[in-house]
Amino acid sequence: MHILVVTQDFPPDVGGTQTYAAEMARGLARRGHRVSVVCPDRPGVRALDDEFAAAGVRTERVASTQDAFPIKAVPAVRRLLTRHNVDVAFAIAWPSALALLSAGVRRRNIPLALAAHGRELLLEPVGVPGGQAVYDAVRRRVIRRADLLLPVSRYTASLLVPFGVPATRIQIVNNGTDPDVFFPVDAAQCAALRARLGVPGPMLLTVSRLVGRKGVNTVLEALPDVLRAHPGASYVVAGDGPDRDALVALASQLGLAEHVHFLGRIPYAELRTLYAAADVFVLPARESRPDVEGFGIVFLEAGACSTPVIGADTGGIPDAIEHGRTGLLVPPDDPAALAQALGELLGSPDSAAAMGAAGRKRVEETFNWQRAADHVEARLTGL
Ligand code: GDD
Repeated sequence: MHILVVTQDFPPDVGGTQTYAAEMARGLARRGHRVSVVCPDRPGVRALDDEFAAAGVRTERVASTQDAFPIKAVPAVRRLLTRHNVDVAFAIAWPSALALLSAGVRRRNIPLALAAHGRELLLEPVGVPGGQAVYDAVRRRVIRRADLLLPVSRYTASLLVPFGVPATRIQIVNNGTDPDVFFPVDAAQCAALRARLGVPGPMLLTVSRLVGRKGVNTVLEALPDVLRAHPGASYVVAGDGPDRDALVALASQLGLAEHVHFLGRIPYAELRTLYAAADVFVLPARESRPDVEGFGIVFLEAGACSTPVIGADTGGIPDAIEHGRTGLLVPPDDPAALAQALGELLGSPDSAAAMGAAGRKRVEETFNWQRAADHVEARLTGL
């Protein structure tokens, strides 16, 4: 099949939807399909696009911000539809399906599949009177016109219900990760990294874009309690975003500056050792509608490195963490409950190690991109 993927989220931009889009494109190409991806242009993407080409993925970059992409992408999508025999169109989120519909995918009888992540189904970005109603109507129309919807969790599937999509068109395909990219790293490398970071004792880790819903502030608020039992503990935060300055200020207000390390954005290839060096991975994301956690790939990445995880019981996180087996779920916005869960894992290294091992096994057996791409391929082929 020739599969046309259209996505406003794609590397080199960082985030879970970007990871999903790249893994799906590569995974479908690996299964022998011809894959073209229309995505936003970014400075210096040449080398990256050469890597995609080597993996069988042809990228067509469109000069555009992420927000303007559904309009700016239309000519490129139309050109591709005209010049090639596209068998299936795959939009990575509904705004990209809008580009496909505007470019005439329906007129050409090309089936349309649409992935759904979470917040894009709830966002209310239009601030002008009446504008949001128009936006909502367009979103509803686009979603209802898709032949197949692929939500990444049970939670995201539940967000599709109000759109009135028949259940037969909805197929949950959970996110995954790559167990050959994320795996346990030997103790000497972990120790070297901890020494470099200046982490002498237990290490808590978050990997995240620094935006409000991720709940990094809740970890900072829980930390004084954790430090009472584990005075040598450190909290390492990898990732960047608009909340960084406020979080750095909060850490210093709480008198935690020497225990907290903000690393900024980390190259993908270096994340593995960070995850593996941590005693616990933590991300207590809150449900601050419309900003919600559709799944949480980072929990799988940490688990694949055999690190136990703690997440909040919100959004799609209960699909990403098997409570009591690969990690713990805690209530959101509750520093006391989080401190207790952190204390539980730091205080019982054996059960923490067992959870880490179970996290690795779960990724190897089920929650990997290989399996996700198998499912998606089977569904696309059936359209
Ligand atoms: N290289 C690098 N450096 N990668 C990073 C960094 C960094 O500093 N910070 C975050 N990432 C990567 C993580 O490694 C992971 O692959 C991705 O960005 C984050 O993915 P998620 O944890 O899933 O969160 P998200 O909010 O960006 O993604 C949204 O869509 C996902 C896909 O469906 C959310 O809705 C998620 O819940 C959902 O899983």
